[in-house]
Amino acid sequence: MAPRKVIIDCDPGQDDAVALFLAMASPAELDVLGITTVAGNVPLELTQRNARMMCDIAGRTDLPVYAGCEKPLVRDAITAEYIHGATGIDGIDVFEPETPLQAQHAVDFIVETLRNAETASVTLIPTGPMTNIAAAIQRDPAILDAVERIVSMGGAMREGGNRSPSAEFNVLVDPHAADIVYRCGRPVTAMGLDVTHQVLSTRERVMRIRNVGNAVAVATADMLSFFHRYDTRKYGSEGAPLHDPCTVAWLLRPDLFATKACNLSVETGSALTLGHTAVDFWHVTDRPHNIDWTYEVDAEGFYDLLVEKLAVFGD
Ligand code: BDR
Ligand code: CA
Repeated sequence: MAPRKVIIDCDPGQDDAVALFLAMASPAELDVLGITTVAGNVPLELTQRNARMMCDIAGRTDLPVYAGCEKPLVRDAITAEYIHGATGIDGIDVFEPETPLQAQHAVDFIVETLRNAETASVTLIPTGPMTNIAAAIQRDPAILDAVERIVSMGGAMREGGNRSPSAEFNVLVDPHAADIVYRCGRPVTAMGLDVTHQVLSTRERVMRIRNVGNAVAVATADMLSFFHRYDTRKYGSEGAPLHDPCTVAWLLRPDLFATKACNLSVETGSALTLGHTAVDFWHVTDRPHNIDWTYEVDAEGFYDLLVEKLAVFGD
C-alpha cells in the first residue's frame, strides 16, 4: 500500500518533536508532504526553528517546513514556557538548522496542497492550536474534499483541563479554531488528555529510549528528561503525558487505541469554561457524531512502537 499523505501542523514543544520523529521514522506508512508550524507552546519564530531542528537531527533536511499564524484567530496568544522551557525544546542545545524555512505561509501551503490533491487523500495531524488549519478552511472550505481524516491532539473529557480547570492547552489557546476543525464535516480522530495521560514517560521508558543510542533517540531522551519535570511535580506521577505522538502512533497502530464515535462541542463563549470540550461519550444528546474520541491506549505497546521506530535512525 502507498504511504498515507500527511501534513503535520505543530508547535514544537518536546512532545511535538517526538511526534515529528515518529513520523519521519515511518516512510513506508507516512509520506510527510510538509510540516506547518503555529504559535503555541512558544512563539512562532521558535516553533518553526524547532521543527527545522528536528528535521536536521533526523537527517531530513529535505522536508519542507512552513511558518503559519502568529496568533490565534480571535484571542491573544498564550504560551507554555513554564512546561517546555524558554526554547520550547529545553533539554537539548539549540542550533541554527540547515533545513530551510519555506517562503510560503503555512496556510497558503495547506490550501494549495489540498486544492491540488485528490478527494480524501491527505491526512492532517494538528498537534498544536488549530489556527492554521481553521484559517485554511475559512479561506476555502472546498479544500475539505481532499481531507481524508484529521488526527488531532486536543481536548479532555474525564481528565479535566491542564491549562484551566476545564480546558486542555491546544483548545484553550484557540477555541474558535478548534470549533471550526471539529465541526468541519470530515472524519476526526481526537486524542485528548484522557488518553495522553495514559502514556507516561517514566524514567524506565526514557532510559529504554536513550539506550537505542542514535542521535534521534538521545535527543528524544534529553528532551523528555526536561519535559518530565513540571508534570511529575504537578500530577505526582512517574512521568509526563507524551501527548502529541499519540496522533502519529494511532496512524501507525490504531489497534493500540480504543475510540468511540461521539459529538464533541467546544465552549467558545464562557469566560469560566472557555475551551472546554463537551464530549458526549454516553450519547445523551442527539448532537451529530463529529469525532472519534480516543479513550484508551496500550501504553506498553505505544512505547514499544516508539523504541522500535527510533531505532531506524542511523548514527
Ligand atoms: C498539548 O499542549 C502542549 O503543551 C503539548 O505540546 C500538547 O500539544 C497538551 O495539552
Ligand atoms: Ca503540541
